[in-house]
Amino acid sequence: MTIKQLKVYSPASIANLGPGFDVFGVALDGLGDKVSVKRVSEPGVRVIMKGYEADQIPVKAQLNSAGAVMEAALSRLSEPGGVVMEIEKGIPPGKGMGSSGASAAGAAVAAVKLLGLTLPQRELVKLAAQGEAAVAGSAHADNVSASLLGGFILVGDGYDVMRMDIPDIGFVVVVPDVRYENKTKMARELLPKTVNLKDAVRNIGYASRMAAAVAMKDPVMFGRSICDSVIEPYRAGMIPNFHLVKLAALQAGAYGCSISGGGPSVFAVGEEPAELGKAMIEAFGDTPAEAYITRPTNLGTRVV
Ligand code: HSE
Repeated sequence: MTIKQLKVYSPASIANLGPGFDVFGVALDGLGDKVSVKRVSEPGVRVIMKGYEADQIPVKAQLNSAGAVMEAALSRLSEPGGVVMEIEKGIPPGKGMGSSGASAAGAAVAAVKLLGLTLPQRELVKLAAQGEAAVAGSAHADNVSASLLGGFILVGDGYDVMRMDIPDIGFVVVVPDVRYENKTKMARELLPKTVNLKDAVRNIGYASRMAAAVAMKDPVMFGRSICDSVIEPYRAGMIPNFHLVKLAALQAGAYGCSISGGGPSVFAVGEEPAELGKAMIEAFGDTPAEAYITRPTNLGTRVV
C-alpha cells in the first residue's frame, strides 16, 4: 500500500561536544521537532511552520532545512505530484541545539517513507545534510546524523557515519537571549583557515578520549573530555560572559562545559544538571538565559 501521509519525531542534538568540530554529535532526550508529511497532486513542496518561534523560520522550501530536503527527495522521483509538510518546532531555532538539523533529519526520514525511496545510511545522511546546506551554507552532518540515528555519532568523510550508544549522564543546555542573523553561517565565518599544531594535538587527544569514553561507557571521562582549543576561542566572543559561564559550570561541579554546536547556547555535563544550569544562568548576568535540563538519548528519528 502506498503511504499517503505520516508523522515523524526527530530529537535535538549537540554538535562538536568540545573537541569534535563537525565530527561529534549527540542526540538529546525530551526536545525535538515533529514533521508531518502528506502526498498531494499539486507539484512542489509546501511548508507550514508551527510551534516554538515558528515565525522566525522561512516557509519557502529552498530556505527551510526540511523543505530543501523534501525538494531534493522529490527530485529523485519521476512521478508527478508534491508534498505538504507541517513542521512543529519543539527546539528553539538558531541557538545551537540542532534545530535546523532535527527538522532536516525528520524530513529525510519522512521523505524516504512517504516516497518509497530506498537509501543506504550514507545517502540518508547526505540527503539530510542538504537541509543544513540550504540554511547554513555548509552541508555539515554532525547535527543531522545525531538526530537521525540517536546516540553518539562520529562523522567521517563522504557522510560515512559511525554511531555508538552513549552512556547516561546529566546535560544542561543554557540558551542566552541573544540573536544573530544567519547564526551558523556567521559562527563558521569566525573560524580560522589554519590551526596551530599544539592546539590540534590537544583537540585530537581530547577527541580520542571522548570516543574511548563512549565505547567504554564511562560518562565521567566523556564529560572530562569536553575541551576545545581550536574552535571555542574564536566563537567565545559571540556569547556574553562565556568564560564566566564556563567557570561557573565547572565550579558548580560540571565535568565539562563548552559551546553547543555553533552557539550561542552553552552546554555542561554533570551529575546535577539543574544546579549547573542555575550557576550558569547567574553567570550570564544581565543577559536573560533559559536552561534546558536533558540527557542524551539513544533513539533517533522515528515515526510517531
Ligand atoms: N559543527 C557545526 C558548527 C554545528 O559548529 O558550525 C553547527 O550547529
